[in-house]
Amino acid sequence: MILVTGGAGFIGANFVLDWLAGSTEAVVNLDKLTYAGNLQTLASASDNPRHVFVQGDIGDTSLVARLLAEHRPRAVVNFAAESHVDRSIHGPEDFVQTNVLGTFRLLEAVRGHWAGLPEVEKTAFRFLHVSTDEVYGTLSATDRAFTETNRYEPNSPYSASKAASDHLVRAWHHTYGLPVLTTNCSNNYGPYHFPEKLIPLMIVNALAGKSLPVYGDGMQVRDWLYVKDHCSAIRRVLEAGKLGETYNVGGWNEKPNIEIVHTVCALLDELKPRDDGKSYAQQISYVTDRPGHDRRYAINARKLERELGWKPAETFESGIRKTVEWYLANAEWVRNVQSGAYRDWVNKQYGATPA
Ligand code: NAD
Ligand code: DAU
Repeated sequence: MILVTGGAGFIGANFVLDWLAGSTEAVVNLDKLTYAGNLQTLASASDNPRHVFVQGDIGDTSLVARLLAEHRPRAVVNFAAESHVDRSIHGPEDFVQTNVLGTFRLLEAVRGHWAGLPEVEKTAFRFLHVSTDEVYGTLSATDRAFTETNRYEPNSPYSASKAASDHLVRAWHHTYGLPVLTTNCSNNYGPYHFPEKLIPLMIVNALAGKSLPVYGDGMQVRDWLYVKDHCSAIRRVLEAGKLGETYNVGGWNEKPNIEIVHTVCALLDELKPRDDGKSYAQQISYVTDRPGHDRRYAINARKLERELGWKPAETFESGIRKTVEWYLANAEWVRNVQSGAYRDWVNKQYGATPA
């Protein structure tokens, strides 16, 4: 079995659901259930005996040690993090707490467990750390896409905290020999994305008749990857990645934000036209820019393709259509997130104190 942290968040939950569907191996899912953790996303796995959900903090060393001793996972996949750049600007402390201190404590618990394993299990064990392209900083329009050898130049409290966590993971390999792998991925989109992030926010605001807030001039570029493709990349790195290596993951889909917003509006115009027949693009409103806003990210994912044979399955066109269709078909999930009702799901489904 494997231990996944942060498996009730956007990418972690997609990973857990895909894992349960595609393998016979069990998953222990450790998640603190912050505002971003949503057990409703995992509702289809709630009766699955191969999914063990545990509410808890990656920084709780004794809990993690107990879970490792009890379940003896062959791998830990660390998704748990504070992930929203805007929140990190308003309140950086939680980011340092979870992304830096939490990762440190998780590494220590894993190291203690791993060191005591019999040789065969010890050799097979993996710690895969899920990170971001934002650690490399920002690019100009003509710069080359980030490779794994780019310097770390994080610019936001979020990316600085992720960079720190990447460095800890690297050091635990170099110093203690912990068998680690790190992935640095570009912007994900797809089902179950919390509507504080660009794409889901635009979809839900458009449908609610609200304005579509575009920061600054809307010409910042992100490199978009459908979440299921990120999950397949992680599975591939877990399976065949070289110990101590980092792998960039991306979809070769660089787009300016304003183009993303227009694409979302055009799909909604087609799939759920406004009552007045006008385009959702009328709701676009330019707002004050994000402080320190990185201008451009672009991932060169050639190493992962060349060494491990991974490629994304979705184009941006196919992935964004699936995403908009998913949000239209899952209005209740969105309503529960917006009303906060998803938080009641823990009690309803698992009782007051989840296992
Ligand atoms: P998310 O915010 O949707 O989910 C994070 C999950 O971690 C939540 O379920 C939350 O409850 C849990 N969590 C937070 N603090 C915790 C703690 N101390 N202990 C245990 N659980 C905790 O994030 P996401 O978008 O799914 O991102 C997952 C990972 O992937 C993060 O490490 C992020 O940095 C990285 N990443 C995200 C993207 C993206 O586009 N979303 C791209 C590249 C990398
Ligand atoms: O690059 C990977 C990163 O992508 C991950 O590490 C982060 O966890 C993830 O949140 C994401 O960060 P971004 O800041 O790029 O994502 P976000 O969806 O917040 O914003 C995408 C772009 O859209 C960014 O340039 C800011 C802009 N934006 C965002 C929001 C929420 C707007 O213009 N308006 C908005 O309302």
